Amino acid sequence: MAELRYNPLLGTYTMVNSNRAKRPQMPKDWCPFCPGSGKVPEKYDVYKYDNDFPILSEIPPQVDDVGSHATNNSISVDSGFYRAVPSKGKCEVILYSPDHTGSLYEQPLAHIRKLVDLWCERMTELSKNKAHKYIMCFENRGEEIGVTMPHPHGQIYAYSWVPQKLEVELNNAISHYKENNECIICRMNSEEAAFGKRIIYENDSFYAYIPYFTDYPYGVFISAKQHVNYFTDFSDNQKNDLALILKIVTGLFDKIFDCKFPYMMCIHQNPINVDAEYSEHKAAYHFHIEFYTPFRAKHLIKYYASSESGAWAAANTASVEKTSREVVRAKLTYLANDEELSKNFKDEFIKEFHFVYGKAKSEPVVIASPARINVIGEHVDNYGGNVFPAAIDKYLYIAIRKRNDKKIVFNDVRFPERLEFNIETEFSYDKKNGYANYLVGILQSLKKSSYKFDSGFEALIFSCIPAGGGISSSSALELGFGFALSELYNLDVDRITLAKLGQKAEHEFMNVKCGIMDQFAIAMGKANMAIDLNCGTLEYQYVPLDLKDYRIVVMNSNKKRTLADSEYNSRRADCETALKILQKSGYEKLDALCHLNPDELENVRTILDDGSKNGKTLFRRVRHCSTENKREKDAVVALKQGNLKTLGQLLSQSHASLKNDYEVSCKELDVLADFANTFEGSLGGRLIGAGFGGCAMAFVHKDKVHEFIEKLSKLYLEKIGYEASFFSCVAGDGTHRI
Ligand code: GLA
Repeated sequence: MAELRYNPLLGTYTMVNSNRAKRPQMPKDWCPFCPGSGKVPEKYDVYKYDNDFPILSEIPPQVDDVGSHATNNSISVDSGFYRAVPSKGKCEVILYSPDHTGSLYEQPLAHIRKLVDLWCERMTELSKNKAHKYIMCFENRGEEIGVTMPHPHGQIYAYSWVPQKLEVELNNAISHYKENNECIICRMNSEEAAFGKRIIYENDSFYAYIPYFTDYPYGVFISAKQHVNYFTDFSDNQKNDLALILKIVTGLFDKIFDCKFPYMMCIHQNPINVDAEYSEHKAAYHFHIEFYTPFRAKHLIKYYASSESGAWAAANTASVEKTSREVVRAKLTYLANDEELSKNFKDEFIKEFHFVYGKAKSEPVVIASPARINVIGEHVDNYGGNVFPAAIDKYLYIAIRKRNDKKIVFNDVRFPERLEFNIETEFSYDKKNGYANYLVGILQSLKKSSYKFDSGFEALIFSCIPAGGGISSSSALELGFGFALSELYNLDVDRITLAKLGQKAEHEFMNVKCGIMDQFAIAMGKANMAIDLNCGTLEYQYVPLDLKDYRIVVMNSNKKRTLADSEYNSRRADCETALKILQKSGYEKLDALCHLNPDELENVRTILDDGSKNGKTLFRRVRHCSTENKREKDAVVALKQGNLKTLGQLLSQSHASLKNDYEVSCKELDVLADFANTFEGSLGGRLIGAGFGGCAMAFVHKDKVHEFIEKLSKLYLEKIGYEASFFSCVAGDGTHRI
């Protein structure tokens, strides 16, 4: 049975289709939308597929005789009060990805453009049928809203009446038009543009904003700038712009909470074949897309509950002026990390800079500064050892512009506070300055080295480096900012000097006696290269980080490195004590612990290990320095020879040494590293950076990355009680201007 039952209370139709409930259970591991199913072509990029269980059809069945049977003095009369009409219309499925697990935004722009063209073609076709009064293209995404077919797809419904929500919108639009002689959507656009704060993105043809009144916290609208009624009215450029804005909006959604974000995407156009009923609709209303997004927080649903469903009294529990800032941040994260759209990042970041500081004659300088990994050679940079780090393609960005006064202003896209200083201040560490200590710290280092600053500046910071430590987000900030100052004031500070100044700032300003590894890697990194660096002499060579079929997976323990700074300094003190003892006990010529040949270790044990706890500890510290340095050298040879198995074993030995001898691991990092060292498909893994939390790293076969992350996530949650996070990366360029 399929029919449109008239609802006398609301004055509209309910689509009834008992056949839909009989949809068969799909066989497991079979999907009709995947090429090879026999239901769709063997090869397609976009494809219209007639719905197998349509709720509306071109030749609908007869309506059932279950309507009005009111009795009047016990005679049954058909008053027509309860009535049904045939469910005329059309339901189509729009497939836009042959890949069973893809998402709309994961399609290249040219591909999304094909989808726009298919929508246009369907509009033209479906409009020819005079019975069709309204055509809505839409997509439901996510189990949260009842999607049972995981294969990504959209749909088109051609209705034989104007559905009620559209009817309400159109009637309001027409009243507004009669009073104001303007299109209601054009007016919304100009209100949003004038206010500005709820605009998420715009290009020549479209705005994306979260409108003032919306009932969903993240309910973005995409609205055509020009007064265009239908898909079919768009120019070629407008269609390209539509593809672009769709990619950006649906892409940023997954970055809001860093998870798959459910949405309903409803494309509202003008009605068709109704000019008599809505004579002014073409002037009064125009093309826009409404997203209904049920998350109010990560995995927390905002239900369309009693008030919304029972009274149509919508309740939005968030201020959209606030959520739109979250969405803008998500946009920047998405753009910075998307292969095809990263070229759009700079313009959008500058727009955000203008939003914060306003426009001026000069545009800001924009800098990208990377995080780093370290293949091996951990905790040896203070002891004359060799390290093997690489900058990675996860960046922190700084936009900076001179001011006409002496003020220094910092804003970070992630945090609301604005920090202000004066360029002439002699800075020292101040806890309340938070992240700005890294910034004024390097500024102070530059000033001390006689670099001159003739004016203040304003800077905006945005980081795509996952927080948590181990991959040196703080050095990325320091170096990026030092480099930004050098560019802005034409100081021409060379990269190695900048790295040294960064290290000096850490020592003097932050009181962390770090080595040079992080700053050097971040300043000198090169795409696809690791740097074999002698931290004693600063001699270095680039070695291609060619891992063949293996990928770098960074595993973030999400444990705060609370002890890292104090324990870091105390390990360093142990090593200095041990070196002094050795120098007085027959190793006069030993200038750094890493220069001790591991063959000497048994002899060294007799000197340091006097049976006391401290003696044993000092010996273990020395053993770490000596063996880790040797492992680094072996790793460089192994990588050059493509001997990845050996490389993996060295990683595993390094972790054991960091855990047992240098004692900078913790149970969280051990769970991650142990898994990486036993999982089939992983070469090996170890903690990276200072330790005590933060990140570990593994080299995992490309076909196994998914399984690796899935299994380890579960195990980690079980053993630790909260989640770890993961990302893959490649070696990227050091700090640079974009
Ligand atoms: C931190 C320091 C580096 C280095 C590593 C450990 O990241 O900043 O200098 O010592 O720890 O290898």
